Amino acid sequence: TPIDAFDMVFFGGTGDLALRKLLPALYHQHQDGNLPEDGRIICLGRSPSDTTSYVAKAQSKAREFLGKHYNEADWAVFASRIEYFKVDANTLSDFVVLAEALNKFPTRNRVFYLSTAPDFFAPIAKNLAEVGLNKGNARVVLEKPLGHDLDSSNKINDEVGEYFTEQQIYRIDHYLGKEPVLNLIALRFANTLLEPLWRREWIRDVQITVTEQVGVETRADFYDKTGALRDMVQNHLLQLLTIVAMEPPASIDADAVRDEKLKVLRALKPLTPETVHSKVVRGQYRAGAVGGKAVPGYQDEPGVPAGSKAETFVALKAEIETWRWAGVPFFLRTGKRLQERLAEIVINFREAPTSIFGKNTQPNRLVIQLQPAESVRLYMLAKEPGRERLREVYLDLDFKEAFSTRSPEAYERLLMDVIKGDLSLFVRRDEQRAAWRWVEPIIDSWENSNEGPKTYSAGTWGPAASSALLSRDGMCWHEEA
Ligand code: BG6
Repeated sequence: TPIDAFDMVFFGGTGDLALRKLLPALYHQHQDGNLPEDGRIICLGRSPSDTTSYVAKAQSKAREFLGKHYNEADWAVFASRIEYFKVDANTLSDFVVLAEALNKFPTRNRVFYLSTAPDFFAPIAKNLAEVGLNKGNARVVLEKPLGHDLDSSNKINDEVGEYFTEQQIYRIDHYLGKEPVLNLIALRFANTLLEPLWRREWIRDVQITVTEQVGVETRADFYDKTGALRDMVQNHLLQLLTIVAMEPPASIDADAVRDEKLKVLRALKPLTPETVHSKVVRGQYRAGAVGGKAVPGYQDEPGVPAGSKAETFVALKAEIETWRWAGVPFFLRTGKRLQERLAEIVINFREAPTSIFGKNTQPNRLVIQLQPAESVRLYMLAKEPGRERLREVYLDLDFKEAFSTRSPEAYERLLMDVIKGDLSLFVRRDEQRAAWRWVEPIIDSWENSNEGPKTYSAGTWGPAASSALLSRDGMCWHEEA
């Protein structure tokens, strides 16, 4: 279906996200011929710049991030869509100027993407409303972090909600736009094969891992106040968990899907100070070597205050109290400066009830890898040719091989969804609240504890307590199996 003309407005247009992800994502969609000719991209920043110098800056970043997809001629056409305006979130007169520019095309879909610190969400929403830009086909995209706990996120949602209806608000979680995640939805609900097995009777445990090799980089200011629990678990990891665990939705409609995801979040067994202690591991990296290169510890990173207790690693055991999942642990893990960059969902099936092949009882595993590769592998035991030996091999759904098309980046899909007005892959307010509510006892109990995070050497898989968390249940992380 053809897409209507649109105006995409980026607040925080000079920021990292806009330059590294958002503009390159739209460039890809432009290059693939998916953007209508009259789609404009309006970039806003606080500094007094002009369109020509902004575009030059965007171009050099795009060239860097797009690699082989960058093409001079395509860029030139794409760049003609871009305009730059100086807009300060708190200056109403700047919004008057913005409104004038937008009102040249009063009936267009308008997207206001708030790629700024959350403190600016409320003033921006208010000023947009003051100049009438919240009306008609206006949509607002809210980037994470949306607050730092339940109260502050409620507050932001209330404030933005004064000027925009829930149907206009797109809370983005870019993990929901990753192709393998979308594929997991297809895998689960377009095939009959898995559904009968997708439950406690056949699944022993689920592991969701998102690990990074990078450290805190230049973001110490933000990260030290945030930590891995708020940065990754409250949003990305819990969202992945809902996709794995939700019941089949009655349709692919936004609210049908989000209703099911919400039910999962509400069925998470609440944590208490005691269970936080036994089920949640927090870690912080010290110096080590990642990919053969020596790296400093977190406390020695520029901008990190001495004695910081911020966690750069979290592993936890979550339980979902439903008929489908009771008794199946969901192990979640994320961290920086770990051995590998890896994002995957591992479904461990139960062991064979008895083995006629001696000790060869490796359970079947379904591994959905998001990063670095995009693949789905079903591990099974097979007989080695010419030998009386069983070996684990996998059935491989290799997307690169199966489909010759380019796999789009998460932000491409999500930006196109906002332009089209499809909310399915965006987080509804009640989902977000339920996720905050669930992590809140962890935050509280850490704040009230004298114990700091457990240390781990950069370049490992995290603190020893992370392995111990699983071994207590007789299990181990995928890479240790
Ligand atoms: C962001 C976090 O939301 O996700 C970052 O703020 C993290 O700390 C990033 O590095 C990871 O995303 P991806 O897509 O690179 O795995």
